[in-house]
Amino acid sequence: MSQPVGIEYNQKNMPFRRLGPSGLRVPLFSLGGWLTFGGTVHGDPVKDIVKTAIENGINMFDEAEEYSKGNSERELGRVLKELGIRRADYVITTKIFWGTRPGPNNGGLSRKHIIEGLKESLERLQTDYVDVVFAHRADHNVPMEEIVRAFSWVIDQGLAYYWATSEWTAREIEEAFLIAEKHGLHKPIAEQCQHHLLHRERPEAEYAPLYKKHHYGTTVFSALASGILTGKYNDGIPENSRFNTNKENFKQRVEFLNSDEGKKQIAIVKELAKLAETELNCKVSHLALAWVAKNPNTSTVILGATSPEQVLDNLKALDVIPTLTPEVLEKIEKIVNNKPSGLPTYGRPLLDRFGRM
Ligand SMILES: NC(=O)c1ccc[n+]([C@@H]2O[C@H](COP(=O)([O-])OP(=O)(O)OC[C@H]3O[C@@H](n4cnc5c(N)ncnc54)[C@H](OP(=O)(O)O)[C@@H]3O)[C@@H](O)[C@H]2O)c1
Repeated sequence: MSQPVGIEYNQKNMPFRRLGPSGLRVPLFSLGGWLTFGGTVHGDPVKDIVKTAIENGINMFDEAEEYSKGNSERELGRVLKELGIRRADYVITTKIFWGTRPGPNNGGLSRKHIIEGLKESLERLQTDYVDVVFAHRADHNVPMEEIVRAFSWVIDQGLAYYWATSEWTAREIEEAFLIAEKHGLHKPIAEQCQHHLLHRERPEAEYAPLYKKHHYGTTVFSALASGILTGKYNDGIPENSRFNTNKENFKQRVEFLNSDEGKKQIAIVKELAKLAETELNCKVSHLALAWVAKNPNTSTVILGATSPEQVLDNLKALDVIPTLTPEVLEKIEKIVNNKPSGLPTYGRPLLDRFGRM
C-alpha cells in the first residue's frame, strides 16, 4: 500500500545535473547530516531543516552509517516519514565503512560488512533501498575484487541503485573500474570528495583523468571548509559554532588556525569577503559555494546546516553562480593562489575535459 503524501516536492529554481555517467539526476545543492542530525540537532529542529530544504528545491540527502553512531540516519529516516514525501521524489545516499560499533567485522569493506552494514542503514533510514551507497573510504585489507563484487551484489538485490567512492585515490578508483569491466560488474559512478577554495589538489588535479575517461561524478563535501569560508572563525571561535560544539573533532583545525599558516588562510577569507561584498554584493560563503557549484565536474554540493536559516542563506549561492565571470574567477585565483598545476602536457596545447581541443 502506498503511503499518504504529506508535502509535495517542488523543484523551484534548483538546477539538476547527472551524477557522473549515470542517469540519476541530482540537485546542484543537496544536504548532509554529518555532526548535525542526531549530533548537535535533534527532534523537531531536524524536521524544520529538512522541510525547509525540500520546500526550496533540495531533494537529496547524504548520510553515513557512522554519523552520530547511526542516529543521523535514524533522525533523517524519521523526519522523511513524518513529512510524508514520496520515496521516488527524493534521493538518499549513505556511506559504509566506519560502522556504528566496535567488532572485527563491524566496519570496513568486507562483503560481510558491506551487506550487513547497508541492511542496518536501511532499517535506520526506514527505506527499502538507498539511491547511492558509498564506500566511505578505501579498504586496503580487503581484496578489491571482493569490494566491487559486494557493491555490485547489493545493487542486483535492489538494496542500492548505484555505488560510489569517497576519498579514494584515483589509482584505487581505476582499479575498481578495471575489475568491474573485466567481470561485467557494476562500476562506481562518483566520488564524494572534499573540495573548496582552500583544498583543491585532489579534486582538481588527481581526479582530472577520471572525469575525462569515465565522466566520474562528484558529490562535494565541506564546500565551506566546515564554516571557515563563512568568515565566522575570522576573530576566534564563536560559542555556537562547529569548532566549539565538536571540540574533539576539530582540535587540530583550531590549532592550525592559530598557526602562521592558519592566519594566512584567515587573511585569504577576509580578502575573498571583500571581493564578494564589493563586486558581487554577496557574502563570502555565497561566493565559496557558488565557486564549487560552477565547476563542471561538480555534480552536487552537499550543504551542512544547523538551522533552516543556514539552508536558506546558503541557497542564495544559486544567484551568485552566473556572476562568476572569467574576470571574477581570475580575481579569486589571484587571492587564493593555489591552483593545482595539473598533469604535464610537455608543451602541447591543452585539451578540454572531453579530450577535445
Ligand atoms: N565523505 C566524507 O568523508 C564526508 C566528510 C565530511 C562531510 N561529508 C558530507 O558533506 C556534508 C557537508 O559537509 P560539511 O558539514 O563539512 O559542510 P560545510 O558546508 O563545510 O560546513 C557546514 C557547517 O558550517 C556551518 N554553516 C553552514 N552554513 C552556514 C552559514 N550560512 N552561516 C554560518 N555557518 C554556516 C554550520 O555549522 P555550525 O553552525 O555548527 O558552525 C554547518 O553545519 C556532511 O553533512 C556530510 O553529508 C562527507
